[in-house]
Amino acid sequence: MTDQVKELVSKCLQARDKAYCPYSRFPVGAAVLTADGAIITGCNVENASYGLTVCAERTAIQRAVVEGHTQFSAIAVTCDIKDRFVGPCGACRQVLMEFGSDWTVYLTKPDGSYKETSLSELLPLAFSPSHLAKN
Ligand code: THU
Repeated sequence: MTDQVKELVSKCLQARDKAYCPYSRFPVGAAVLTADGAIITGCNVENASYGLTVCAERTAIQRAVVEGHTQFSAIAVTCDIKDRFVGPCGACRQVLMEFGSDWTVYLTKPDGSYKETSLSELLPLAFSPSHLAKN
């Protein structure tokens, strides 16, 4: 594990501890690595209306964009499930795809072990901004 991946994984675990999830009691943490080496974190933020809940991955992306980042290379995601690797929901996969297909994705267990995959693997044949490009 490189130091950068170690830090990304450790930051997604810390972010999970900040999750606001009084309804599901299912905390999720995410950390995105920007092209210039910054790490921005997110957690799920639930709402009494349920439907307004925002996932950890999208919280991280939105924070990153506000901070001026639109180029990314990786994301680490974690929840409390100990016995298997858990992937981001479909909506979050699409939101990641907005910023390119070239993401490394680290599905992280609570003990810090992870499975490395990619966005292309998680969202094959994706719809992406390139489909809207005018010729
Ligand atoms: N959740 C995430 O934060 N990310 C995902 O990719 C899947 C689900 C959150 C939403 C909700 O607060 C809780 O997990 C249970 O679905």
